[in-house]
Amino acid sequence: MYAVVFGKNPRLSEAEFYSFIKRFGLKVRVLETNGDWLLFDSDARIERYFHWLGGALKLVKVLGEGEEALRGVEYSRLFTVSLYGKDDWRLWRRFGSEIKRELKKEGPSKFFKPARVYAMPAELILKGFPGVKDFDFFLREDGTFLIGETVGVTDPFELKKLDVERPRQRPILSIPPRLARTMVNLTEVKKGNFLDPFCGIGTIVQEFVLQGLGAYGSDSDEAAIKNAKENIRWLRKEFRLKNSARLEVCDARRLKRCFRTRFDAIVSEPYLGRPLKRNPGRGEAIKLANELDRFYYPVFESISNVLKRNGRVVFVFPAFKLGSGSVYRKDRGWLRRLGFEITGKYLDFEPRHRLVRDIHVLRYRG
Ligand SMILES: C[S@@+](CC[C@H](N)C(=O)[O-])C[C@H]1O[C@@H](n2cnc3c(N)ncnc32)[C@H](O)[C@@H]1O
Repeated sequence: MYAVVFGKNPRLSEAEFYSFIKRFGLKVRVLETNGDWLLFDSDARIERYFHWLGGALKLVKVLGEGEEALRGVEYSRLFTVSLYGKDDWRLWRRFGSEIKRELKKEGPSKFFKPARVYAMPAELILKGFPGVKDFDFFLREDGTFLIGETVGVTDPFELKKLDVERPRQRPILSIPPRLARTMVNLTEVKKGNFLDPFCGIGTIVQEFVLQGLGAYGSDSDEAAIKNAKENIRWLRKEFRLKNSARLEVCDARRLKRCFRTRFDAIVSEPYLGRPLKRNPGRGEAIKLANELDRFYYPVFESISNVLKRNGRVVFVFPAFKLGSGSVYRKDRGWLRRLGFEITGKYLDFEPRHRLVRDIHVLRYRG
């Protein structure tokens, strides 16, 4: 039995997890969900694939239920404890002491206490994971709990490197590498040709290349394509990859002129309008969304010319955080009329940008 612990957008991460299992054909039986984590049975292949999840933090192998399971913990000189389901540092210390008592039967052992009650992957890696162990406690509402040991973390250092170490950067406009990975999983397409028609400096295309997919990107801005090419050259060298990407200067409303390929999937964050200086009112948001839709409509017509039948699109539409605090989210009935069926919609909010991403997962019916 395993548990997966989700990051800061659990709803999106859970959707990604379900798509991911389909994408890689993993045999998984979900046993329990609580929002922040998910408990499931799976064959051990999950341990090999886990790091390709964008929105998950940890993979935990469950040792058992209640205090009894403490007897089964394996020795480690240095260990920490993570608590999920309740923010209770007293309990956290108590569990830590109990584990220490168990481990000491076999040799000296130290409980390291990270800055926060929750041991984050970055701290764990710095301490020497997997040599250093992390024991996880999942507390249920009814007072029962499960104990497990962390067997995998998504490497925050690799993800950060993909972002800040590449030669060309554009902090405000670029999508976080974690989100790019999540969006690729949401396609449910394991192999084939993937296109980002608003690729900018190439964050999503980088992910296509890393995953060994047929990687294509385009952007109407010549300078962006030049920079994307430089980033891909860096990525191939840094990660010793043999495959590459085809990058073209192209208006997303004219994709057929630029590509002869028929794509299996399109993953993209398009132009989302000018940066907002303050949160708009409802009327203003409706106006902004309508204006942008006048641009997105011909983009989707153009996408339908290069996408295979039953091909997938994972696309960021803008939603707007209003002055009142609520979110304005437009319904786009025209997508269905163009042959695109919406199979999922997920919000992702980035406070820094005042921008709410309304991530749509679509299937092209043709
Ligand atoms: C939000 S950015 C995409 C950023 C990208 N995801 C990244 O991480 O670098 C939007 C991009 O759309 C491009 N763009 C705007 N209008 C376009 C059009 N009609 N066709 C193609 N690209 C366009 C801009 O040049 C910009 O690079």
